[in-house]
Amino acid sequence: MSSFKCIEFIDDKLKLIDQTKLPLIEEYIISDDYERISVSIERLEVRGAPAIGVSAAYALALAFKNNNVKDDSYFEKVYQRLASTRPTAVNLFWALDEMKKTYYSLTDNFYSSLLNKAVEIHNDDIDKCNKMAQNGLEIFTKKSKVLTHCNTGQLATGGGGTAFYVIQKAFENGLVEFVHADETRPLLQGSRLTAFELDKAGIPFSINSDSSAAVLMQKGEVDLVITGADRIASNGDSANKIGTYSLAVLCKHHNIPFYIAAPTSTIDKNCKSGNDIKIEFRSPDELNKIKDVLITKPEYKTYTPAFDVTPNELIAGIITETGLHKPPYNFNV
Ligand code: MRU
Repeated sequence: MSSFKCIEFIDDKLKLIDQTKLPLIEEYIISDDYERISVSIERLEVRGAPAIGVSAAYALALAFKNNNVKDDSYFEKVYQRLASTRPTAVNLFWALDEMKKTYYSLTDNFYSSLLNKAVEIHNDDIDKCNKMAQNGLEIFTKKSKVLTHCNTGQLATGGGGTAFYVIQKAFENGLVEFVHADETRPLLQGSRLTAFELDKAGIPFSINSDSSAAVLMQKGEVDLVITGADRIASNGDSANKIGTYSLAVLCKHHNIPFYIAAPTSTIDKNCKSGNDIKIEFRSPDELNKIKDVLITKPEYKTYTPAFDVTPNELIAGIITETGLHKPPYNFNV
């Protein structure tokens, strides 16, 4: 793993690298205020499904730092505030529910017990990332040119990453020749964050506009595609950053395998299929503006889903910490 840390808990405060400023500025948000951490999640200062879950768990614990008593209505208020930040990544709700189970099992020592649980969730994510990276080696049959979308590395998780960490481990094992990083419109997680992480990891790469992925495939420059996921339904339908579905369709046309890597905390057994997954819509400003500069008329209508759903039949395999799952998927068992 590289030297920077996305999420650290130091001196009873949460330290988050501000991802909206990367890669040009490395700045940190240090806070023990759950409201400030909620705003960080909303603004995507911290983002990526597992990283959102880990941050929310610490925020919920920190809410009891100066209020170290049983107070159910306060707990529910904080829980609801954190749960309202982003709707699609199920890791957020998974982590909050784990914290909830802990809270209702306590009679005293609320802060320290909730903090221990948040640390456990964080360590669990590190462990899952390590296992996923190892399990992902199986998808590489030769030294490969890989394309990925959005950001799925250390910045997106509590550990080494999901899809990114699979790529990194494979690179270290001599199985990756080159990485194409989709820029990932409109918030550019690919050109800003994945490029930053590929650079730090010493992996040869170039950034391409999302619309260049088809040409790269047509020219034989892509052997496989691997992305993360924000929520996976029990039939394998997978929600991930907008643009992922089009990649999977392109892969089918070009006969290129399309893989997902995600921890089991991203699987939502309550969703039978992708139709049950709630998709976040973001502010029109994210399309109308680039870095606060208006680039079109603000009165024009916009279409702003942050995620799309890739149907299971387009997914060659789903890598989790438990192994490489092949279709037909049934995550109900
Ligand atoms: O809106 P974001 O930046 O939080 O979206 C992140 C993604 O879509 C990632 O691909 C996903 O969370 C998987 S990350 C490990």
